[in-house]
Amino acid sequence: ANLKMEEIVSLCKRRGIIFPSSEIYNGFAGFFDYGPLGSELKRNVKDAFWKAFVHEREDVVGIDSSIIHNPTTWKSSGHLDGFSDPMVDCRETKLRYRADQLYCSPVVLEECGSTVGFVCVLEGNDEDMVKEAKAQANRLLKEKEKKGAIQPFQFKDLTQVTEEEMAQIPSPGSNKPTLTMPRDFNLMFQTNVGAMQDASSVAYLRPETAQGIFINYKNVLASSRIKLPFGIAQIGKAFRNEITPRNFIFRSREFEQMEIEYFIPPGDEDVWKPYHEKWIADSKAFLEQVGLREELMGYDVHEGDGLAHYARACTDITFKFPFGVQELMGIAARGDFDLKSHSEGSGKVLDYFDEETKEKFIPHVIEPSLGVDRLILALICSAYAEDEINGEKRSYLSFHPSIAPVKVAVLPLVKNKEPLVKAARELYEKLKKRWNVQWDQTGAIGRRYRRADEVGVPFCVTVDFETIESDGAVTVRDRDSTEQVRIPMDEVVPYLSKMIDG
Ligand code: GAP
Repeated sequence: ANLKMEEIVSLCKRRGIIFPSSEIYNGFAGFFDYGPLGSELKRNVKDAFWKAFVHEREDVVGIDSSIIHNPTTWKSSGHLDGFSDPMVDCRETKLRYRADQLYCSPVVLEECGSTVGFVCVLEGNDEDMVKEAKAQANRLLKEKEKKGAIQPFQFKDLTQVTEEEMAQIPSPGSNKPTLTMPRDFNLMFQTNVGAMQDASSVAYLRPETAQGIFINYKNVLASSRIKLPFGIAQIGKAFRNEITPRNFIFRSREFEQMEIEYFIPPGDEDVWKPYHEKWIADSKAFLEQVGLREELMGYDVHEGDGLAHYARACTDITFKFPFGVQELMGIAARGDFDLKSHSEGSGKVLDYFDEETKEKFIPHVIEPSLGVDRLILALICSAYAEDEINGEKRSYLSFHPSIAPVKVAVLPLVKNKEPLVKAARELYEKLKKRWNVQWDQTGAIGRRYRRADEVGVPFCVTVDFETIESDGAVTVRDRDSTEQVRIPMDEVVPYLSKMIDG
């Protein structure tokens, strides 16, 4: 089923997955809080990543670095000078926008072909954009007391606009242009470390987890017995002062990343390309394994201008979000840019000694980078489903059992028969030692199934009269098919662990 973004946001709030941050103080743009179910989902997603890429591999180890590094880190990494987005200020509203997300188009009078002015619209889907532009153009024409048809709109983003064109972007009630020319806005959040509030104490919240890996490269190498090629993984918070956070948790100001720096021998395309391709394939396999629907994923291969100056190659795995196909994860081949920059910046040579060839060199790196929150949004969009059961409409979240926030709901058929409730309670106590399990004894059984389906519980175990009176077995119901199987009480744990843990 296709949900609109507003529906996803409200579903997440209603079901305790994600809340807007600081809501009692009217919220705080770009920040979000995970609720009882969301925090479970998030843990599961991070655990799945760690299991797949650290525990199940011999060539990757993990670290957990501090969020605030020595500020020189950001000079060497290039973030201080280059980690910025083009920003424009609106002189009317005092709002700030990302210049590459605002589009403008000339308004041309058809009769004489002359340009009357420019309209400028916020990024939206094409239809909205044209509708808004038409309305703006009409207002503009009216203001200038002109009438006439408007030429088709050819939009360009504001980073492409000349000063003359910018000067024409109309500003009702003033002669000045509405928008300033684009200028670079550094996305790093600043803070001060220690009691002094001067320039010498300025530090930054990390905008990515990757640099914490590079600055620990030597420590990891010296303290573990890994040999090239090897990877270092890190999961943790990252902060970016996004000019226009948007689309819920897709682009927020505080988020989490799961990143790996995979160090490989230096060399040309024939050396790094096979590693890059393997990481793209492994990343895609992981995304499928946690339950993303294959048909919603795609690739975006960066080329030419789309490629950062230090990158050899970058492929994004995209996802079809309700607001369009967008980057979910990036897999970049970054050459030796990072280790070299930190070697120069720190004066410590971050190299590798190959014991077989007796050669010393700075390794190259492949970097798979995935946003936890962005993956969670994709998982929710991918899992949302609707169907009909006995003529009744049902909506449910078909989360893969490995990431489902609650794995099992234990339901005593009735709540007023002591031996039955006791048997159910004993099973519940046993199951909750292994998984996050829910106890639900209120309401008709159908209603309870529906409640479990809504939050994506993959299995419901019902203890009924036969359980205690005749067969000593329980009913296990599958969320997606709604099929029920009868399982002896002492086989419930092995059965469920096969279904949940694989
Ligand atoms: N170390 C490489 C790096 O940070 P990036 O493309 O800027 O590359 C990697 O970010 C991933 O982090 C993205 O693919 C996305 O999943 C996630 N991400 C980046 N900015 C984000 C934001 N503002 N909100 C949520 N997730 C974000």
